[in-house]
Amino acid sequence: MRILVLHGPNLNLLGKREPEIYGTLSLEDINGALEALGAEFEAVLGFFQSNSEGALVDAIQQAPEKYDGILINPAAYTHTSVALRDAMAAIGLPFVEVHLSNIHRREEFRHHSYLAPLALGQICGFGLDSYLLGLRALFNHIKN
Ligand code: DQA
Repeated sequence: MRILVLHGPNLNLLGKREPEIYGTLSLEDINGALEALGAEFEAVLGFFQSNSEGALVDAIQQAPEKYDGILINPAAYTHTSVALRDAMAAIGLPFVEVHLSNIHRREEFRHHSYLAPLALGQICGFGLDSYLLGLRALFNHIKN
């Protein structure tokens, strides 16, 4: 099984960026932990981070050529991007949306996700565990 892990804008700054909200792990730390869990499942993971909405749309459009599902933290584009949602709708791959922070107990503008209605599920508020739980759920869904 092949899973694409997509990280949206500003997640390249993880570890340095508002650590009281997002924690002290870097993006490399998160990818490393996902890679280790993926290896347990014998899943092959691909990773992509971009600050650009268009680059993320391109990655989603190309995903079906190589992947069976997507684990995505769309970051700020969660709350703004019809384009990411439409790309997900167009390809139809199963995906799980994750967030480090609990977006539902933060500012009101973070409560809405354009992608969540298309996702298998959304996991937020657990830091690294949001990603690990999301990967596990996506893996189990695809396997069954
Ligand atoms: C985030 C939450 C978003 O609201 C925010 O814009 C991010 C990170 C999270 O992982 O908690 O950049 O997706």
